[in-house]
Amino acid sequence: MRDPSLRRSVTLFRAFLREQQEPEKCYALLARDAADQVERHLPVKDRVVVDVGGGGGYFTEEFQRRGAQAYLFEPDPHELGAKPPEGSVVADGYLLPLADGVADVTFSSNVLEHVDDPGTFLSEMVRVTRPGGLIYVAFTNWYSPWGGHEWAPLHYFGAERARARYERRTGKPAKHKLGENLFAHHVGPTLRQVRARDDVQVVSARSRYWPFWAETVAKVPGLREVATWNLLLILRRCP
Ligand SMILES: C[S@@+](CC[C@H](N)C(=O)[O-])C[C@H]1O[C@@H](n2cnc3c(N)ncnc32)[C@H](O)[C@@H]1O
Repeated sequence: MRDPSLRRSVTLFRAFLREQQEPEKCYALLARDAADQVERHLPVKDRVVVDVGGGGGYFTEEFQRRGAQAYLFEPDPHELGAKPPEGSVVADGYLLPLADGVADVTFSSNVLEHVDDPGTFLSEMVRVTRPGGLIYVAFTNWYSPWGGHEWAPLHYFGAERARARYERRTGKPAKHKLGENLFAHHVGPTLRQVRARDDVQVVSARSRYWPFWAETVAKVPGLREVATWNLLLILRRCP
């Protein structure tokens, strides 16, 4: 699927709406899409790819299918599930058990909003990436319509209220709690933080899913906090 394009965005959105009923299909599609985004900058065949916070391993498996030596680093054994891909390691993204510069591509999809200190998390991704290698980081920012995750979009009226309402409505405990395993990160400050670094160059900063103006939408202060939906950063490690 061409990226960005209306067809791609509609296909991804439909899969997302059926994520609960067909998780395999949804995540396999998302993984193919993200791997295509990486390969537009660096083919992964025979390269080392490190997937940080990769959950059940859909992305790692997609990179492996494309001929990469891909490894999954996931701190939560429950998220890894019963059949994690070969090369899975229980490890935290803040402290990866890897030497400096071993990875050609360091990848994280929808993890940054689940860490309290995105600067340290990013630094660790940069550390393990070789000079000239790529760092792929995509996350849902707080004021995105999906910022509150399962209790979105009521997070616009306050996290605690949205969470309590979700629990009353569904009768089950919410998976996420603000300040515990979900954090309010924003597009503007994240871009400023990344641009201020002297160890990476920003190759692309755009909305991950938008069908058009994907880069433009991430440039407009204020609007970008709501409209970007999910910020995708592709960074190159400086020599
Ligand atoms: C929403 S899931 C994303 C899973 C997968 N990357 C995806 O895009 O579908 C967030 C993942 O981040 C992981 N995570 C949370 N804190 C982390 C940390 N400090 N280091 C690495 N992964 C972390 C969680 O365990 C969980 O698997």
